[in-house]
Amino acid sequence: MKHNNYKLPIVHLFSVLLLNPLVSCQLDYKFYDDSCPNLTKIVRYGVWSAMSNDTRMAASLLRLHFHDCFVNGCDGSLLLDGENGEKNALANRNSARGFEVIDNIKANLEKACPATVSCADILALAAREAVYLTGGPFWNVPLGRRDGLTGSQTAANQQIPSPFDPLEIITAKFTSKGLELKDVVVLSGGHTLGFAQCFTFKTRLFNFSGSGKPDPALDASFLQSLQNVCPNQADSDTNLAPFDSTSSKFDNLYYKLLVDNSGLLQSDQALMGDNKTASFVSYYSKFPYLFFKDFGVSMVKMGGIGVLTGQNGEIRKNCRLKN
Ligand code: HEM
Repeated sequence: MKHNNYKLPIVHLFSVLLLNPLVSCQLDYKFYDDSCPNLTKIVRYGVWSAMSNDTRMAASLLRLHFHDCFVNGCDGSLLLDGENGEKNALANRNSARGFEVIDNIKANLEKACPATVSCADILALAAREAVYLTGGPFWNVPLGRRDGLTGSQTAANQQIPSPFDPLEIITAKFTSKGLELKDVVVLSGGHTLGFAQCFTFKTRLFNFSGSGKPDPALDASFLQSLQNVCPNQADSDTNLAPFDSTSSKFDNLYYKLLVDNSGLLQSDQALMGDNKTASFVSYYSKFPYLFFKDFGVSMVKMGGIGVLTGQNGEIRKNCRLKN
């Protein structure tokens, strides 16, 4: 299949492969070409059929890859079941979704090419397919990650950015993984897809920082609509608001809304509170094509965090359990 909407320029290819220490030289775009030639088709079908039952699933799958990579690297550890696993960490419990979709894709892959494709690679490919199938960019995914043997709930609680973190802490969490300030802005653009529960931004709506008033950084009519979705009572905590009004389409509306003081999370809107990040936001709000191009580059960088290759790790047969 040809993907004409996004081609990695040759200069970028070199900078991604050679200049970026995150992308292990052992990852390879053709890693499964001989051992599992139908890999892309199988993952694409799995993501597509899940999205046709539930359009939000694209968002949820993109987020899974992010939450996997930010906790001790992209090693599929998020997928391991268990009371003390990463699934039960603060950012994931009653929030992360899409595990059954990964199970189905893995089951189909075990039929087509047994004990060959890692769960960590499935997450990376599913995230790419999710973005592509919602109208976003296509990028080539370097492959060959192996699956970790353990997860860490403590690490997940410490390392996944919180919507209540100030920009400096979020940036520090990204740079500690070898990512840059630009990647914070670009990858936050993932919030062009999906929803957030009221408790993740309700502190902005009624009594911001003990002021008795809403967050002054919130546009008045946007505030009104959020107060309708999330009334000031505990039972609205799990109600859902879309990050933007085109939450199942990958576009650059997220950035346009930030420019208009209509970012959903405090951590989203905080990108406008710093000159450098605000200028990236303004740029992506005007140039969707450049956002698309940079998103692919940053996703490859993120997908290279702490990968296990060679003798390390394993190829899990069931993504929920180590072999
Ligand atoms: C920069 C720091 C980030 C923070 C503080 C953050 C925080 C959040 C929060 C609080 C939610 C809502 C969860 C819920 O209500 O259950 C969410 C959802 C989401 N996040 Fe992020 N996130 C960040 C970065 C990212 C990145 C880098 C990506 C992907 C590249 C991403 C993709 C998503 C998606 C797609 C959703 C919607 C999921 C769904 O609807 O199931 N986020 N995020």
